[in-house]
Amino acid sequence: MDAGKFVVESREMIKSKLNGRGILACSGGQDSTLLSVIAAPFENIEVVFVDTGLLRLNEVNNVISLFNKFNIKYKVIDARNMFLENLKGVTDPERKRKIIGKTFIDVFNEEAKSYGAEYLLQGTIAPDWIESGGASRDTIKSHHNVGGLPENMNLKLIEPLRDLYKDEVREVSKYLGLPEVMPFPGPGLAIRIIGEVSEKKLELLKNATNILESMVDEKYKFDKPWQYFCVLLQVHTTGVHGDQRTYGETIAIRMIDTMDGMTGTFSKPDWDLLSEISTRITDEIPEINRVVYDITDKPPATIEWE
Ligand code: XMP
Repeated sequence: MDAGKFVVESREMIKSKLNGRGILACSGGQDSTLLSVIAAPFENIEVVFVDTGLLRLNEVNNVISLFNKFNIKYKVIDARNMFLENLKGVTDPERKRKIIGKTFIDVFNEEAKSYGAEYLLQGTIAPDWIESGGASRDTIKSHHNVGGLPENMNLKLIEPLRDLYKDEVREVSKYLGLPEVMPFPGPGLAIRIIGEVSEKKLELLKNATNILESMVDEKYKFDKPWQYFCVLLQVHTTGVHGDQRTYGETIAIRMIDTMDGMTGTFSKPDWDLLSEISTRITDEIPEINRVVYDITDKPPATIEWE
């Protein structure tokens, strides 16, 4: 494919369809970020980034730097309290997903109204609509994707990436100078905290995830696992710190090699790396006294724990 030609044609397509104000929800993921860059030259398009509080450490700042670098006109909405409040007392994974999806839509809808948007720019790519046509993995877990906003928003849809496949998204992103990003689920860290989500648990998981990600990124320049992350379990176990008995939190590390996330095998990183990650997590986060490694393929397990 000719990436340069694609960018020019996508902008022409937007220009021909957009007759008023448009709004675009960017999650920081590859597809919606690419679309945000393509839409950057349009004065009448607002890119909205919702801070759900369920994102990784520094994620909001990283996305803002990228927006600035590409001259994207954006608005960050701080909805952290609303998400936490709505998730209070909720332990069922599917309910968590539904609540997060609904809260996201409420926040976005409100912004679309106040901006006076008539158009919705969406980073839908080919596999999104092809998969949703038949029996898909969505029947296993209800995937909340910030790309998938409801039709009843009464906004006219513009989907410039509709015919692209993942590898083409990567090609165009690279052409525009965008970094490659690891997949990150729409419901964020909420589905990596088993049981109820709280501010404290989010803080522990953010710190553990940050240690894991930075150490894997440092270790591997190429051939990284496809996805790697931490999960905060609901299990407390006995440990020892100095001459004190502890009863602390458990972190599970998940690393997956896969082509597309549909099936996959657990990665086999070097033991020394795992050992260093475990030591840093337990040294730097005193509440955590145990780290385990997930050795399950998909299937039978899914990639995420919830
Ligand atoms: P699973 O856990 O279904 O994950 O094996 C496959 C891939 O999808 C991501 N994932 C999600 N992405 N909303 C998303 O946008 C979701 O609800 C969701 N659940 C899982 C997961 O991170 C992996 O890359």
